[in-house]
Amino acid sequence: RLLSVVLSGGAGSRLWPASRQAFPKPFMKLGGSTLLQQAVERGQACGTGDLMIVTNKDHLFLTKDVLRQMADPPETTLLLEPKGRNTGPAIALAALQCIKQFGGDTVMLVLSADHLVPDVEAFVASASEAFRLAEKGALVVFGISPASPDTGFGYVEVENVSRESQRAKRFVEKPDLRTAQEYLATGRYYWNSGMFCFTADAIIAAFEQHAPGLLKAARRALESSQSTDHAVEFDLHSFGLQPDISIDYAVMERADNVHVVPAKFSWSDVGSWPSVAKAHTADASGNTMPSDIVAIDTTGTHVQVDSHGPKLVATLGVHDLVIVDTPDALLVAHKDSAQDVKRIVDSLKSRR
Ligand code: GDD
Ligand code: MG
Repeated sequence: RLLSVVLSGGAGSRLWPASRQAFPKPFMKLGGSTLLQQAVERGQACGTGDLMIVTNKDHLFLTKDVLRQMADPPETTLLLEPKGRNTGPAIALAALQCIKQFGGDTVMLVLSADHLVPDVEAFVASASEAFRLAEKGALVVFGISPASPDTGFGYVEVENVSRESQRAKRFVEKPDLRTAQEYLATGRYYWNSGMFCFTADAIIAAFEQHAPGLLKAARRALESSQSTDHAVEFDLHSFGLQPDISIDYAVMERADNVHVVPAKFSWSDVGSWPSVAKAHTADASGNTMPSDIVAIDTTGTHVQVDSHGPKLVATLGVHDLVIVDTPDALLVAHKDSAQDVKRIVDSLKSRR
């Protein structure tokens, strides 16, 4: 049995104004549909019958809307969090619920609701390799060839980088820049894509061994949760007693049965506007924008317009900008400053 688990947390403040506190990244549309819908469809393409979405209870209706708009939505269980406790508890709770609902030998494909994977077929090929390893008890991560010493990723060391899947020697979450540079120089590391695959029993055994306190707290949180039709809602107090820690630190860095499946697919973690731009095909001037935009003497610029009615946008004599227009907010920023977009969000918060 195969189950998709979609983690739909993350505020995404570097993607303002398309992503807001009330309307975070998973609900942002990119290339026609929301990132959440794309994640759900990615799981379906791999043949996972059922779906679990772990998300904040404030996003229940947005989430239901996304599912309702799908032509063929899967059977879905929603795990509703009263607040964020990071991916460690989110995955532990999903695994415990999975054992209850479907059995411990169910293979869980854990997907993020804020990734872009344009080539679904290539993803399916990697996922079926992951299923095969997961059935044998491995904790599977998908390895991405590192493009730069980015400190926002987990790094997975292997004996020899190859196209074959293999056991990981080491997993290091978010090393500092110098360490990341050293890793790249050895040529023996992958980035962790942040998607995982394991049986519910295997990941629970790993929590038992490496994060027993977290597992105990997760069991209590599930015991005191309220289940209604297709939804599990956690109680604020017992949920809050879980530690705030990611699966990467809690389990992946410590476990000795981590296996890497090298990604055959292209992937991006949609974190900031330049990464969104990179996920689009650029024109000859390096611009990523809809074809109806009038761009004269404009290079390296990303434009995104989400208006209620027709709106003509024109740019002239500008380079390396990000222009994002939504019905009630407009962003004009230099690409070099794009990592600081959250400063706008902070300044808006302090105005209120
Ligand atoms: N439901 C829920 N609750 N989802 C959460 C929570 C939470 O409390 N916290 C994070 N998530 C979701 C995010 O929405 C995202 O889809 C995913 O889990 C990963 O969380 P991030 O916060 O984006 O993690 P990261 O990017 O810093 O690091 C992870 O992803 C990298 C690749 O993108 C790690 O797994 C790294 O090792 C990895 O390289
Ligand atoms: Mg991320």
